[in-house]
Amino acid sequence: MTNNGRVTKDGIRIYEPQDFAGMNRAGRLAARILDDVADHVVPGTTTGALDQFITEQVEAAGATSATIGYKGYQHASCISVNHVVCHGIPGDKVLKDGDILNIDVTVIVDGWFGDTSRMYVAGTASRKAERLVQVTHDALMKGIEAARPGNTFGDIGHAIQVYAESNRMSVVRDFCGHGLGRVFHAPPNVLHYGRPGTGAVLEEGMFFTIEPMINLGRPETKVLADDWTAVTRDKSLSAQFEHSIGITAQGCEIFTLSPNGTFHPTSG
Ligand code: MF3
Ligand code: CO
Ligand code: CO
Repeated sequence: MTNNGRVTKDGIRIYEPQDFAGMNRAGRLAARILDDVADHVVPGTTTGALDQFITEQVEAAGATSATIGYKGYQHASCISVNHVVCHGIPGDKVLKDGDILNIDVTVIVDGWFGDTSRMYVAGTASRKAERLVQVTHDALMKGIEAARPGNTFGDIGHAIQVYAESNRMSVVRDFCGHGLGRVFHAPPNVLHYGRPGTGAVLEEGMFFTIEPMINLGRPETKVLADDWTAVTRDKSLSAQFEHSIGITAQGCEIFTLSPNGTFHPTSG
């Protein structure tokens, strides 16, 4: 149990080597739940039914949902379909063939937070939707490749931005990744765009998410009247992938790796 952790001048907590194990257990559970929900993502089902399955899985594991009760949010997942960027509220929305959706789950295991999301397709996606999902996944992995001691948060954002924009897609500016650990959201804000060498320097023991949202059209978003659902202003398709990671001496460890290798077809 950590009690003497250091905090950097940027307010970022430095965790101890033994804390990685706790994050791994939480991350693995969140990822396993995302593995298991995949079979249920079919045309005709509802986002509410998917959330119900996730709620049951969290309970069956003896874990706690981090999102139920968070700022008044009432569900164990966020499910963001097509032009919904993030924070889609599960409900009676029926999935149709070709819909793409992000499912985002955060669990608490022994006080540690595991936060991950990935994309799914109901039925068969269009070529342009498939391309968006692939580029978004690869953009996350570019960010993760830049996550190592001595690099900066700007290096991570830059890697993501360059990759997305070179594929003629745009990076959402209105939402970002975040520190986490024994809390859900902590410093720093992990921007998915930026300039090399700017921002805080990465150190071994930092735990945070990278969770780029990439749009086929323009980057601007707006939040609907429910105060949660964020959508693209131009109604273009949006995609997102999220991992929780910890900085190691050499690079980083991904806490939310898929147990059965289905995070994305090209990466496991
Ligand atoms: N899991 C989201 C994130 O990646 C946060 C969801 S908060 C909620 O940070 F209240 F909308 F669930
Ligand atoms: Co997150
Ligand atoms: Co999340």
